[in-house]
Parts: sequence; C-alpha cells; structure tokens
Amino acid sequence: MSDPSHGPNTHPALHKRGDSAPIAALTAYDYPTARLLDEAGIDVLLVGDSLGMVVLGMEDTIDVTLQDMLRHTAAVARGAKRAFIIADLPAGSYDSAEQARSSAKQLIDAGAHAVKLEGGALIEDQIRAILDAKINVVGHLGMLPQHVREEGRYRKKGMTKQGAARIISDAKLLERLGVSAIVLESVKKSVAAEITETLTIPTIGIGSGDQCDGQIRVIHDIIGLFPWFKPPFAEQFNDLASLISDSTKKYIESINKSDV
Ligand code: KIV
Repeated sequence: MSDPSHGPNTHPALHKRGDSAPIAALTAYDYPTARLLDEAGIDVLLVGDSLGMVVLGMEDTIDVTLQDMLRHTAAVARGAKRAFIIADLPAGSYDSAEQARSSAKQLIDAGAHAVKLEGGALIEDQIRAILDAKINVVGHLGMLPQHVREEGRYRKKGMTKQGAARIISDAKLLERLGVSAIVLESVKKSVAAEITETLTIPTIGIGSGDQCDGQIRVIHDIIGLFPWFKPPFAEQFNDLASLISDSTKKYIESINKSDV
C-alpha cells in the first residue's frame, strides 16, 4: 500500500512545471494496471469514475457508485507502491458537506492519497468539509462529465468571455480553499494557460492544451483498449484491442488443433 502521510500541497508528484518535467498522470482501475504504470514511472494514478464507461460498459459516469470506487481504489492501492493516488468521488456521493466528508474518508481508507470532485463555487461547502477533515482535494473544472446529461453532450469549455471568466474564478476559489491541484478538462487552450500561469498550485490538463503543469489521459485511450470511442485529444501508442482479438483467435485455433 502507498504511504498516505503527505499533507495538502506537500506531495512532490503535484508540482508546478517550472524547469521540471510535466506531471505524468494516467487513470488506473485495477491491480495489474496500477502496478505496471507505477513500475513504469507514472507520477499520479487517478481511479477515475471513467471506470463506468471503460470498465463497466456504462453510457457515462453518472451511475458509478461509491462502492464501485472503493473496490477499485483498493485494487489500485495494492498495485502502486510509489505513485500518488487520486480517487474520484462519484456523482451522488457529495451532495452535502457531511456526505462529501464521509465519502472522501472512505476513499482515503481504501488507499487514496487525495479525492477529486467536479465543480467550483457550487460545491464550496463540500470541498471545505473534506479539507477540514485533513483530506487532500484535487479540483476538476471545465467539462464536468458528471453533468453530461444536463449538458446534452461533451463540450469544450471557456469558449465565451463569460465561460472563461467563470472557470478562472472557480480555479482561484479552489486555490484559496486549499486544493492540491486542479484537473482542467476540455478547456480552451489559452484559458488553461492563463489559469496555469496565475495559480501557484498545479493544473493537470486533458484536452486543454500543452501549457498545463501536467497531463492526464484515460489509460484505455493511450493503449488502444477501448476502440469504440476515441477522444480527439488522446494519442494512441499501442493497439491492445487488436492484440486481444488476435490472441483470442490464436487460442481458439490452438485448442482446435491440439488433442488436450
Ligand atoms: O474519470 C476520469 O477519468 C477523469 C479524467 C478524465 C480526468 O476524471
């Protein structure tokens, strides 16, 4: 199990970019993946609620439960010895300050070093309650997948003056509250760059340009394990889907030929 003793803002994995390499973050949902990514040198593992889509086959992240997140966070924590582990608070697990604190505590007990929740000013009370319990918080601004049903689809954020001002003001609020880092999802590149420049805490981008302090991707996207949906910003470095199909066909062939 990883060492969860780091206080807010103190973990070296969550650094401003400056002269050092950008923070390298990937999602992980199970023991072998967490162990392989950890041993390969990843800085941060996110047990994302994207679990719902890429592992559980759901339409979106909204029906992922706290029980789902606890089980997968524990599996990741067993696999990672070194990386900083962030676990998502799923939709419906932080509707009040008290519920947020209790859900966050359970994720920390399962092995996470920090919890991530989606939103800014609208969830200020929940973020305060978690931080008051001395639990590290990572913010998430821009496109908020837990709100995709209200939005109708995944959209780029910060495209209007008003939209950009709202994200920038939420980012400053999160910093004042004491969060350790902020994930910026599908934020206009110039807005993400301005936030990164302005804040003293790191930003970790996904579909938000290359100026953030770090980058995060869904592991299935970079290894080609979810061929049915490929986000435009996700570089694919391998094709595991083909490898699995190919190995399965070879296995079927082999048992047809053999006499065992
Ligand atoms: O759940 C997830 O995978 C995420 C990333 C997209 C940042 O929140």
